[in-house]
Amino acid sequence: MGIVLGFSALALFASLTIGQGAITATGTNFTLTGDGVSYLLHVDPFSGDLVSDHFGGPSNDFTPPASIDQSGWSDGLTNTRREFPDIGRSDFRLPAIHIQHGNGSTVTEFLYQSHQIVDGKPSLPGLPSTFGNETEVTTLIVKLYDNYSDVSAALSYSVFPRYNAIARSFQITNNGSNQIIIERAASFSTDFPNLDLDMIEVHGDWAHEFNRVKRRVDFGETTFRSTEGYSSHLHNPFFALVSPSTTESTGEAWGFNLLYTGSFQATAERFSHGYIRVLLGLNPLHTSLPLQPGETFTSPEAVAVYSSTGIGGMSRSFHDLYRNHLSRSNYTHQTRPILLNSWEGLHFDINETSLVNLAGEAEELGIQLFVMDDGWFGTEYPRNNDSLGLGDWTPNPAKFPDGLGPYVQHVNNYTILNSSESLRFGIWVEPEMVNPNSTLYHEHPEWVVSSGRYPRTLTRNQLVLNVGLPEVQEFIIRAVSNIIDSANIQYIKWDNNRGMHEMSHPSDDYNYILGLYRVIDNLTTTYPNILWEGCASGGGRFDAGLLHYWPQHWTSDNTDASNRLTIQMGTSLVYPPSAMGCHVSAIPNGITKRNISIEYRAHVALMCGSFGLELNPSELSPEERSAIPAIMEEARRINPIVISGSFYRLAIPDVTNWPAAQFVSSGRDQVIVFAFQQQATVKPAPPPLRIQGLDPAAKYWNSADNLTYGGATYMNAGINLAWETADYQSKLIWLYRQ
Ligand SMILES: *[C@@H]1O[C@H](CO)[C@@H](O)[C@H](O)[C@H]1NC(C)=O
Ligand SMILES: *[C@@H]1O[C@H](CO)[C@@H](O)[C@H](O)[C@H]1NC(C)=O
Ligand SMILES: *[C@@H]1O[C@H](CO)[C@@H](O)[C@H](O)[C@H]1NC(C)=O
Ligand SMILES: *[C@@H]1O[C@H](CO)[C@@H](O)[C@H](O)[C@H]1NC(C)=O
Ligand SMILES: *[C@@H]1O[C@H](CO)[C@@H](O)[C@H](O)[C@H]1NC(C)=O
Ligand SMILES: *[C@@H]1O[C@H](CO)[C@@H](O)[C@H](O)[C@H]1NC(C)=O
Ligand SMILES: *[C@@H]1O[C@H](CO)[C@@H](O)[C@H](O)[C@H]1NC(C)=O
Ligand SMILES: *[C@@H]1O[C@H](CO)[C@@H](O)[C@H](O)[C@H]1NC(C)=O
Ligand SMILES: *[C@@H]1O[C@H](CO)[C@@H](O)[C@H](O)[C@H]1NC(C)=O
Ligand SMILES: *[C@@H]1O[C@H](CO)[C@@H](O)[C@H](O)[C@H]1NC(C)=O
Ligand SMILES: *[C@@H]1O[C@H](CO)[C@@H](O)[C@H](O)[C@H]1NC(C)=O
Ligand SMILES: *[C@@H]1O[C@H](CO)[C@@H](O)[C@H](O)[C@H]1NC(C)=O
Repeated sequence: MGIVLGFSALALFASLTIGQGAITATGTNFTLTGDGVSYLLHVDPFSGDLVSDHFGGPSNDFTPPASIDQSGWSDGLTNTRREFPDIGRSDFRLPAIHIQHGNGSTVTEFLYQSHQIVDGKPSLPGLPSTFGNETEVTTLIVKLYDNYSDVSAALSYSVFPRYNAIARSFQITNNGSNQIIIERAASFSTDFPNLDLDMIEVHGDWAHEFNRVKRRVDFGETTFRSTEGYSSHLHNPFFALVSPSTTESTGEAWGFNLLYTGSFQATAERFSHGYIRVLLGLNPLHTSLPLQPGETFTSPEAVAVYSSTGIGGMSRSFHDLYRNHLSRSNYTHQTRPILLNSWEGLHFDINETSLVNLAGEAEELGIQLFVMDDGWFGTEYPRNNDSLGLGDWTPNPAKFPDGLGPYVQHVNNYTILNSSESLRFGIWVEPEMVNPNSTLYHEHPEWVVSSGRYPRTLTRNQLVLNVGLPEVQEFIIRAVSNIIDSANIQYIKWDNNRGMHEMSHPSDDYNYILGLYRVIDNLTTTYPNILWEGCASGGGRFDAGLLHYWPQHWTSDNTDASNRLTIQMGTSLVYPPSAMGCHVSAIPNGITKRNISIEYRAHVALMCGSFGLELNPSELSPEERSAIPAIMEEARRINPIVISGSFYRLAIPDVTNWPAAQFVSSGRDQVIVFAFQQQATVKPAPPPLRIQGLDPAAKYWNSADNLTYGGATYMNAGINLAWETADYQSKLIWLYRQ
């Protein structure tokens, strides 16, 4: 059901309000309403341009814009707040859309043509997107047209009222008679008024992902991007704008996240009048997408969230939206099996015997899922190290003489401790990659991302297959299907261990990512009961695009528990802890050489939806081994609340020696607090631990001091924890409503 209004019909409907609850149109003044958000935009009646009015707390009226002196060079459109800024006329700021026409000209003029309000949300062809039925989401589609080039744009705004979230994407259709080239496409674009705002984003690198940074949005551009072909470790396609006084639990915060796995760019541009333009979309260096007459381009989707309850409120909106309306896996709302991964224990030194032995040791520890990592494949080029075998996805006959089937049955023959269920089996793959030392590469050197006669530069001895090619997509679908069909496989870790070099055309990245989505959509649809976990040298592709298909992602190759606290807290700014994979590894830590107790290591890893061990059980110390049963018991009790509860960052390691976080069950009946002391200190005293999200009128018993207090007491006065004067201490505290 929808209503289409032509431009000429405007006068007729000028005083009528039409819409479906969350979205109303009064003439062409549009109001999108959530429980605690309003998003207002309108068509300028004189120019036909689409104008931004408000994005923030509830506000139902259209009020006149700020008065800006029009003298000087900056006049016209540059002084207005615009929803879909183009380039070439009087707007001097960065555009959301930049098109090159057949004759090389880049001027466009997108003016209002019609609009439509629909219940629910249409899906995006070939791209991941949020979803919901007609009671959960409403969509406004505004059609714009450039009369001079016959190019049309359809902007789609979907409001999820419960989450104060707006999802936006757009389509460009070439209705002219020449090819056009899309040079820039920012999925989300809006103009804020003259407000002082800071930008929070997460930067990092391999083993150092998701470090929170905050900087003032000053005049000029505050910008970051990935040009690695993937969302990458360096930055994530997420940022927040916050008032300078905003804290974790108070003040205004606007979050923006792109549902895309390729190169991206994020920008806040402050112009002379103080307005702040927000742009989030494809990286223009990896765009230049040709569009033939009659063809349509669909931009990735971006989600914007508004919070009046600080950065924490923003994060919880993202977490809930993504768990309920983005991640479509069967497992999103299910507890995850406790796993043991062979990698840090055995590396490449694996075969059927050593792995069956390891599975036996895993069984004794209470492991539910045994995962075989890298090293199992390759015949002509056996995968004995990282210089060979990638691309040859059949089990190595010397290591697995009977293939995977009987071996996996061997693993399945173990039963999970204290249960009658079989130990489950999972496997590692990296199907987008190839080693030059492989049968695949010798057969298909033309399948890799490369640029003519330029050298094909290696990273980790490997090259990237061009997943934009249909034949490569078919190869990956077949290879992964064959693995799954050959044995009782219940989990797949899908890794990806380098960025793209030598793309021959900027548009190769977009075509690759669409090809990847086609492959993953096919495999997750065909095998819905597989638990899929994304990985990209750790968190190199921890993004909302892949979370649409896969319920969890490996968070970082860095398993040092202290570093992991920072990484996981940063990841939780936008992605739910239920989607994080976190393991306890051996000490001294392979990367930092740090020794941290098994309790602390477990407490950090237990804050994630997918908990596991990544070590050789036979190398555990007696103390560690004796701690394992209690940790396994805790894992089983905690996991349901991590999967479905609300997450609060109480104190972040960036600013305190005593970081803490908590989960609250959906009925606010149970709370799990994870509290840490990083360094031993003589002074100052630790601050009180103030809990959040309780029912202030209820009484809660707590396991720290075995006493009962009012919810308000925990939240306002807080409780004091007794820390030893020692490095890397941790506590797990339960609160139960009485
Ligand atoms: C739409 O909003 C403008 C202010 O931006 C206002 O002047 C106008 O009267 C509104 N139109 C309708 C039909 O409400
Ligand atoms: C919409 O989905 C929700 C669950 O997400 C369900 O409870 C509700 O009945 C659905 N409504 C309709 C009209 O399908
Ligand atoms: C675009 O051109 C059509 C047909 O020439 C005309 O009816 C319409 O008013 C024009 N639209 C605008 C916004 O100029
Ligand atoms: C270039 O192409 C555009 C789109 O077709 C057209 O509107 C414009 O007039 C052309 N410009 C020149 C200089 O020919
Ligand atoms: C342009 O749009 C018209 C009307 O929808 C359609 O008949 C025509 O085929 C389109 N032309 C191209 C090149 O897409
Ligand atoms: C997973 O989802 C598919 C449909 O997508 C359904 O047929 C299947 O029963 C589900 N499995 C579980 C375990 O929920
Ligand atoms: C399997 O690997 C182990 C550990 O490296 C080794 O001792 C054993 O000989 C191997 N077995 C076979 C059959 O290769
Ligand atoms: C990798 O393994 C191959 C075959 O087993 C061997 O020839 C090569 O020297 C090894 N390379 C490294 C770097 O260990
Ligand atoms: C697994 O157990 C079944 C039933 O006890 C037995 O028939 C089978 O031989 C065992 N397979 C392996 C590989 O141990
Ligand atoms: C694998 O490739 C490297 C170069 O990347 C080469 O030095 C090595 O000899 C190759 N090994 C085999 C077994 O082909
Ligand atoms: C997956 O791809 C294969 C090979 O192209 C095709 O036969 C199959 O129908 C596809 N399945 C789904 C669910 O898309
Ligand atoms: C907790 O307090 C109750 C009631 O005072 C007492 O019976 C119980 O022994 C205490 N438990 C612990 C572990 O101290």
